[in-house]
Amino acid sequence: MKVGILGSGDVGKTLAAGFIKHGHPVMIGTRTPDKLAEWKQKNPRGQIGSFEDSAKFAELVVLAVKGTVARDALLAAGVASLNGKIVVDATNPIAEAPPVNGVLKFFTDLNESLMERLQREFEGARFVKAFNSVGAPCMVNPQFSATPTMFICGNDDVAKKAVSGILAQFGWEAADMGKAEAARAIEPLCML
Ligand SMILES: NC(=O)c1ccc[n+]([C@@H]2O[C@H](COP(=O)([O-])OP(=O)(O)OC[C@H]3O[C@@H](n4cnc5c(N)ncnc54)[C@H](OP(=O)(O)O)[C@@H]3O)[C@@H](O)[C@H]2O)c1
Repeated sequence: MKVGILGSGDVGKTLAAGFIKHGHPVMIGTRTPDKLAEWKQKNPRGQIGSFEDSAKFAELVVLAVKGTVARDALLAAGVASLNGKIVVDATNPIAEAPPVNGVLKFFTDLNESLMERLQREFEGARFVKAFNSVGAPCMVNPQFSATPTMFICGNDDVAKKAVSGILAQFGWEAADMGKAEAARAIEPLCML
């Protein structure tokens, strides 16, 4: 499956390398391709383009940008290029405010998650929340004593099944928590 990763931070680079490792063609989308020079050296099969290039290239999209700009990145990717595609949403709605005693602040509340907002606005995309609740170093085939569980959710059962298959490749067992509203519980796991 051709994978377009929107985001060039630790999550974007880690997941992109993971998809390449598991045989998927990958294009990272970024506004600043130069900063991926080192990643490209280590991952010569990976391609780099704009958010729009990456979404057009993709059969499956991964959203891995700062939560505050998730909407902007999807708009830059292009509504038409997202329509009908699975969007694996790894983002968290972390506010531009310092943590309180180490606890992150969110710009959403417990009655509305970021993924619900995105699913409502980009209604043709098939969002599945995944990967947001674990640190980037644990996302791809982590070495734990037992298979770890990744909480996922989303409105489209076929999309969740596909993402569960990807998670299995990445060494995770998926636990489906329900429709998009379940992101209200999954997003705050990043605080822990
Ligand atoms: N780091 C982790 O371990 C971790 C774990 C789980 C979930 N998450 C979540 O995953 C997401 C990505 O985290 P991260 O640590 O990899 O990176 P990040 O620093 O949160 O985000 C980096 C990405 O945001 C994009 N970006 C920043 N400002 C932008 C703007 N105004 N318009 C468009 N794009 C913009 C950057 O674009 P350019 O490429 O153009 O610079 C870059 O691709 C976040 O939502 C985070 O909460 C992180």
